[in-house]
Amino acid sequence: MTPAIDLEELGFDQGAGLLLERALASLPSEGRLTVVGRDPALSVDLAPWCRARGHRLEPGNVVVKGSAAADRWLGAARAGGPGPNEIVDRPNPAWGVAARGALVEAGAATSGFDLDERDAVWADIAPRLYAQAVANQWDPATEVAWEAGDRLPDEVEAAVVQVMTYLVENEQAALVVPARFLGRVHPHFREVMQLLAVQVADEARHVEVFSRRAGLHGGPLGVSTTGGRASLQTLLDEPDFTLASFLLSVLGEGTFLNLLSFIETHAPDTVTRQVAHLALQDEARHVAFGLAHVEHRVTVDAGLIGRLRLTIERRHDALASTAGLNQDVFDALVILAAGEWTPKALATGYERVQRLTADMDEGRRRRLARLGFPTDEAAELSALHTRNFM
Ligand SMILES: [Fe+2]
Ligand SMILES: [Fe+2]
Repeated sequence: MTPAIDLEELGFDQGAGLLLERALASLPSEGRLTVVGRDPALSVDLAPWCRARGHRLEPGNVVVKGSAAADRWLGAARAGGPGPNEIVDRPNPAWGVAARGALVEAGAATSGFDLDERDAVWADIAPRLYAQAVANQWDPATEVAWEAGDRLPDEVEAAVVQVMTYLVENEQAALVVPARFLGRVHPHFREVMQLLAVQVADEARHVEVFSRRAGLHGGPLGVSTTGGRASLQTLLDEPDFTLASFLLSVLGEGTFLNLLSFIETHAPDTVTRQVAHLALQDEARHVAFGLAHVEHRVTVDAGLIGRLRLTIERRHDALASTAGLNQDVFDALVILAAGEWTPKALATGYERVQRLTADMDEGRRRRLARLGFPTDEAAELSALHTRNFM
């Protein structure tokens, strides 16, 4: 006897199809099911419903199950698994924006995410860093004492504003570089995509707080030189994700850890100290990811160390004819660290900036050594790093 389903009062305009599909699911292809019910439109609505789903309808409201539903999922594949330890090395480009772990219907066009190899973007620390990044978001409106009201001597204020002007420029480059890669990373590497998204948001806040500190007392902004921007342009122009992470995060943001910590330590006013402190915390994460990713790639790609060296040398040569750090920024750092306009204070400020550049060099050498460069080569390459710091 043909099994039957009673839809009672339920019409196809009220979800009767769900009940019917559920009953058909347990039948084999070509299995029969008699449909009864009291909805006056039942016999009218059943035929088009069956046609749309690939089922046949026989007299007496008998539905013969078609194979369309089963056929549709022929060739479908799981897009890896949901956990970060279930990613695949080379996700199918056609998976596109499908959730990792979803059963993906076959037959889509490729999606154009060209950063689609695990080793080209991954670091095992990415999921943990992303969670940390989200937990540590801060609100510029409430985390900075904008109303603190410390007033500085004019020259010291101008120095702080020059440093802020320089920082904004660098932060904007640090925002654009990951933003450009973000749209190229295959979403299968979800945690990397998420981490880059938060990194971009971090840089947006850095741009905000440094701009706001620059304009806090109404003076004009400082200068922007072609040399500084040429240095940043080489970061924007690097098309390889790993090499860009190396230049921007390992070397540039790595060097900025020292710079921001210097500004925090010697800031002549509350707001400057606070904004440097807040940005520094985020930058430490950016450096951690860049370093972990390049380190990961070095272990799977023996030729990478050579390409990293070449990248530093090429950038150095490209910038050889430019001034690097603009003199105004250097002077502004001296004055910021001096805190007042006396020969004794300036001597101290100058000495502090000398120590800063030595600390920056030391940090770069340490990171280069961690990536596998021998000590002498790390020292040599660190010395070739852009004088613009980033
Ligand atoms: Fe930043
Ligand atoms: Fe950053």
